Amino acid sequence: MSKVLIITGGSKGIGRATAQRFSEAYYRVVNLSRKPIDLAGAQQIPVDMLEQDWLAGCQSALLDAVADAEQVVLVHNAARQDGDTVADLEGDAFRDVLQINLVAPQELNRLLIPHLPEGSAILYVGSTLAEKAVSGCASYIASKHGLVGLMRSTVQDLAGRGIHSACVCPGFTDTEMLRGHINNDPEVIAAITANVSHQRLIDPDEIARCLQFCAENPVISGSVIHANLGQIER
Ligand SMILES: NC(=O)c1ccc[n+]([C@@H]2O[C@H](COP(=O)([O-])OP(=O)(O)OC[C@H]3O[C@@H](n4cnc5c(N)ncnc54)[C@H](OP(=O)(O)O)[C@@H]3O)[C@@H](O)[C@H]2O)c1
Repeated sequence: MSKVLIITGGSKGIGRATAQRFSEAYYRVVNLSRKPIDLAGAQQIPVDMLEQDWLAGCQSALLDAVADAEQVVLVHNAARQDGDTVADLEGDAFRDVLQINLVAPQELNRLLIPHLPEGSAILYVGSTLAEKAVSGCASYIASKHGLVGLMRSTVQDLAGRGIHSACVCPGFTDTEMLRGHINNDPEVIAAITANVSHQRLIDPDEIARCLQFCAENPVISGSVIHANLGQIER
């Protein structure tokens, strides 16, 4: 059986771990990101999803990649997290974050959905901040809430097609995005892990395993899956 993983943001972090896990499960991996993915056998499609016409140059490569597939798993993973608040967020900066985190996934959906065979899956990587807010990352939070809406619409609009969808919402995962956001400050990491019931950061492969489970189990379709090791609310 020919299984294909199309993933965005597979060059590092959760995306890289997911690409590796699916590769080990005999999926052909196709990655879209600016930097290349370091994974034997993976096909790299270099894109900057911030650019308005980012999809134009890679449409035919993507359609070729799914042409003979018996199952396609499309994972919308790439994202950008800026520090901003509703008091200072400017329109252009907001549009940029929405373009990468929310519009680009829909542009990929529109291209690929007509070519997805029955048994395929469209998975979204959300965040704990897809269903709640904290101060200081308004654009990211709005984009992640929007992604849950896109997942729910995916389920409704593709009813009868045999394609399932879910949104996996990671908690604090040990990646460049997290460490960059907190300036790799050990005190902040200690404060974060004190609010996690397992008192540690999540390994990216734990999220990858969750995505693989979702890909292989259509019964979860429509779910928002909180993969956060139990965040303690105070
Ligand atoms: N880490 C956490 O604690 C955490 C928590 C909740 C949710 N998440 C979510 O998990 C997902 C992965 O995050 P991560 O922590 O693994 O982040 P990461 O290590 O920063 O990786 C982000 C990925 O997105 C890609 N990307 C960013 N901007 C792009 C652009 N303009 N065009 C194309 N690709 C772009 C990057 O690739 P290039 O730089 O090569 O382009 C990279 O592969 C994201 O959706 C994030 O919101 C993470």
